Amino acid sequence: MCYAIPGKIVNIDGRIVTVEYFGEKKKARNEFFDLKAGEYIYAQGGFVVQKILKEEAIPILKTWEEVFAKLKEIDLRLAREPKTLYQIANSKRQQHLGNSCCVHGIIEFSNYCKNDCLYCGIRKSNDKITRYRMSIDEIISSCDHAVNKLGFKAIVFQAGEDPWYTEDKLEEMVEKIREKFGILIVLSIGGRSIESYKRLYDKGARSVLIRFETSKAELYSKLKRGAKLEDRIDLIKGLNKIGYLVMTGFLIGLPDQTEEDILDDIRLTGELQTEMFSFGPFIPHPDTPLKGEKTPSLEACLNTIARARILYPDSKIVVTTALETLDKESGARQGLLAGANSLMINVTPKEYKKLYELYPNRVCIEEEVTERIKKVLDLLYAIGRAPTDLGINV
Ligand code: 5AD
Repeated sequence: MCYAIPGKIVNIDGRIVTVEYFGEKKKARNEFFDLKAGEYIYAQGGFVVQKILKEEAIPILKTWEEVFAKLKEIDLRLAREPKTLYQIANSKRQQHLGNSCCVHGIIEFSNYCKNDCLYCGIRKSNDKITRYRMSIDEIISSCDHAVNKLGFKAIVFQAGEDPWYTEDKLEEMVEKIREKFGILIVLSIGGRSIESYKRLYDKGARSVLIRFETSKAELYSKLKRGAKLEDRIDLIKGLNKIGYLVMTGFLIGLPDQTEEDILDDIRLTGELQTEMFSFGPFIPHPDTPLKGEKTPSLEACLNTIARARILYPDSKIVVTTALETLDKESGARQGLLAGANSLMINVTPKEYKKLYELYPNRVCIEEEVTERIKKVLDLLYAIGRAPTDLGINV
């Protein structure tokens, strides 16, 4: 199983390598390897994450070549003559980014949280959930499984804001992962200090998933019990400055959120020079103060994706698990055909997965991960997408 295609290095200019994939050239930043032109690498999010031997790369490329051409054809066909909003967005995605679709894994390593956000099922005051936290060794062994058995090349490490993971522990975690696995390490650990994030960057983390949740400052403070939106925005900008690829976004359908607000939220996501947009529906959790609120419609979410795609045609947009939860059968497909070009697969150990209850009835909780991977790949092939991240266009 492979979620990245090996690329052949055709040029090296300092840290920037130019890589060729079936005649298409892309750029990637190399920070970790000693490389020469003619060698083969895997890239994720524009970073070289792994070197691969020519003898291994050639057969993989052979199997991909034909499939790749077929997928492109299907994608092009589905993007032709757009009429509806979703089709226009899909066509923009096809023109600007081609058919590559990032498939990231996610490991949810702790559901303890010191915060009490009104919308969130793992908020501190929810005493109805069973809490868990994975040891560094457990995280490493889940990662090992996801990388070496399942083939992932980019993994999000997500948790509530859990102070048990001190800076030292997180550094140890990132350092070990970096040493053992050739992957893009994405952190999703909430509001830590910028110094702390800098240290994690120095250990090898290269991406952060952190949402600003809403661009309305008063609503942000209300939902996050006095926290300030400007602090979150400053943190996101600081992460960008460090060099992290930032994935950010907001919740769709929050109480008191208007259509205008959603447009402002999309604009803010774009202005933050984000690597990837991540927005999903707010789904009320029965054990939170917002339990009586409404879940937004799938259409509201698809409209948001489509509008974001049209406004920011070069962006990567993920179909979130929450969106898939709204329509378990076809949410992912509809999202990908409304402008999205990325997906996440939950690779958290099964016994923990069901406890990470940000919102109820999460998709794929009972499903075996191998089943889920199969379904995702079937879907991607059916709509002509290649499950890979080909890096940055030259
Ligand atoms: N519904 C949907 N998404 C939620 N999150 C937290 N609670 C909910 C909910 N009830 C999202 C937040 C957070 C991410 C980790 O999970 O946007 O950033």
